[in-house]
Amino acid sequence: MPKRAARWERVLTVADFRRLAKRRTPRPVFDYVEGAAEQELSVDRSVQAFQRVVFHPHVLRNVGSVEPSTTILGRRAALPMVLAPTGFTRMMRTEGEPAVARSAARAGIPYALSTLGTTSVDRLRSEAPDTELWFQLYLSRDHGRSRELLDRAKASSYTTLVVTVDVPVAGARLRDSYNGLTLPPTLTLRTLVAMAAKPRWLFDALTTEPLAFEALGAGKDLVSLFKNAFDPGVTFADLEWLRAQWRGSLVVKGIQRLDDAKAATAAGVDAIAVSNHGGRQLDRAATPLMLLPEVVDAIGGKAEVFLDGGIRSGADVAAAVALGARAAFIGRPYLYALMAGGESAVDHLLKLFADDYVRTLKLLGVSRTADLSSDLVTAT
Ligand code: GLV
Repeated sequence: MPKRAARWERVLTVADFRRLAKRRTPRPVFDYVEGAAEQELSVDRSVQAFQRVVFHPHVLRNVGSVEPSTTILGRRAALPMVLAPTGFTRMMRTEGEPAVARSAARAGIPYALSTLGTTSVDRLRSEAPDTELWFQLYLSRDHGRSRELLDRAKASSYTTLVVTVDVPVAGARLRDSYNGLTLPPTLTLRTLVAMAAKPRWLFDALTTEPLAFEALGAGKDLVSLFKNAFDPGVTFADLEWLRAQWRGSLVVKGIQRLDDAKAATAAGVDAIAVSNHGGRQLDRAATPLMLLPEVVDAIGGKAEVFLDGGIRSGADVAAAVALGARAAFIGRPYLYALMAGGESAVDHLLKLFADDYVRTLKLLGVSRTADLSSDLVTAT
């Protein structure tokens, strides 16, 4: 076994990566990833919903060979998975977005760059030339600025735009407040002390390019950019405007009820990501897995439906797909791997997901992703 892969031999689950990440990363950084809004009930409920899943496997179905691939928005993907947009990824480890995006290409799945990313749209394209890249945008009434970001994504051959709609304001992330991690991050004595406690992380941070919000456009005044990042005045009319501007695939992320799913579909989006932002916005918002089947029923094939929230294994992906998701987004799991060990760790994480997904299909008596059906799963 090559040395890099051997290093991860005993890391078998997302929980293993999480433990390593916690050990190797300054507390405010780990907490930014791990944490959620208010009492953090939503994120716990999302994970617990998958723990309550009951599988109803077929037996004696010849599962000697399994085809895990699918199409997501008309493009082939090796697995029904997407790496979700996450902010400040170079803060977790400076290899950041390019490392994760290259890993996604090797796994054959798309990677979505966040507007709050720390690598620019075009730099990511040149560092990850073979990745199917998506770009995430916050819906805004500042159409000029949105246009600029769209043009950049288009010029760098991003296939898909993910528009996040659950952020009229930032959620109350209490851990970040307790830790003194503000948005944008400021270095206080407290954050410095926490960072100095993890010398490897600090060495990495100090010996590579400083953190900058490159995806928004380098060199701009960050405070005002942040003020404009979340626009509480947006409406479905802005979504319709965006639809008219962007000819690539359009995903709306953050839909949390049926009438909004229908309205978004009527606005012409290609996919809906049922999501509560990883529990980072309105705590106690609906649990994505529980809402998924109703949304799939309600929009009746007019748009693809993605599940975002609570996925921690390939078996979870299989459950989500069986209940109607075209693909599952993962966020925290790949950030844990990145914090634990950079690019080779993300490769290993995605291999764990792929192996687990294929094994689950076999154990369910199913030989293709397309054959996962709702009778195989009960979610309560
Ligand atoms: C950014 O979108 C975050 O959830 O921190």
